[in-house]
Amino acid sequence: MKVIFLGDVVGEPGRDTLRVAIPRLKDLYAPDFIIINGENAAGGHGITPRLAIDLMRSGADAVTLGDHTWDQKEIFGFFSQEPRLVRPMNYPPGTPGSGFVIVQGNGKKLAVVNALGRTFMGPDVDNPFLLIKPLLEGLRRETPCILVDFHGEATSEKIAFGRHIDGQASIVVGTHTHVQTADEAILPGGTAYLTDAGFTGAHDSVIGREVAPVIQKFVTLLPSKFPLATAGLQADGLFAELDEATGRALRIERFQIKVAPDAVAAAK
Ligand SMILES: [Fe+2]
Ligand SMILES: [Fe+2]
Repeated sequence: MKVIFLGDVVGEPGRDTLRVAIPRLKDLYAPDFIIINGENAAGGHGITPRLAIDLMRSGADAVTLGDHTWDQKEIFGFFSQEPRLVRPMNYPPGTPGSGFVIVQGNGKKLAVVNALGRTFMGPDVDNPFLLIKPLLEGLRRETPCILVDFHGEATSEKIAFGRHIDGQASIVVGTHTHVQTADEAILPGGTAYLTDAGFTGAHDSVIGREVAPVIQKFVTLLPSKFPLATAGLQADGLFAELDEATGRALRIERFQIKVAPDAVAAAK
């Protein structure tokens, strides 16, 4: 089974980048499934039902989220209609939506899980290290092929989480920092691991935002707006190939696909 994962899609520049990058990724890797982190799809803040549908039309088989899950209120009621929109599994019981989904196609099944880290993060969520193992045990009764998007700030927490479930998940990929790390590996138990996938959007920026206002904020400490950047479009992510019988990773490769503005204009 071949799986593509794309890091946080940031606003309209990110969505424009996707429309060009996905056909290229399909040519390059012939993926069975494409999973996309959409927590910043709506101008950097969360996702709306329309944008979730848009990402799925662009090619996402499932969309994962993160600490920005609840930024757009209209998304609350949408989870019950769209199980392929997956929020972190460690919000309190009773929270709208689910922390996992099983997607299917061509006789193949991939479970997709989203979890939120707790180190240097906002929401006071339940301990993902405690909750993940029983969830994975249940999912493995359906399929051994499981992707976990671990959305967190601290590299140590993310690496520890990957090691914690090495051999129980097929892919553990980090999101949230928007900066791709160069530590892709197949861990000893057979899990394809990358600390952070990076982000999809305008990279001539500070993690997707215009440079000058962010510097100004650090200099003055005054409240300010951070408009989305528009230049340097790039889609960051990883490709992994899995043994369908065991769920073990056979191959992992990270990518950064640069997209020219004229290619975006042609795709519209
Ligand atoms: Fe993000
Ligand atoms: Fe985030």
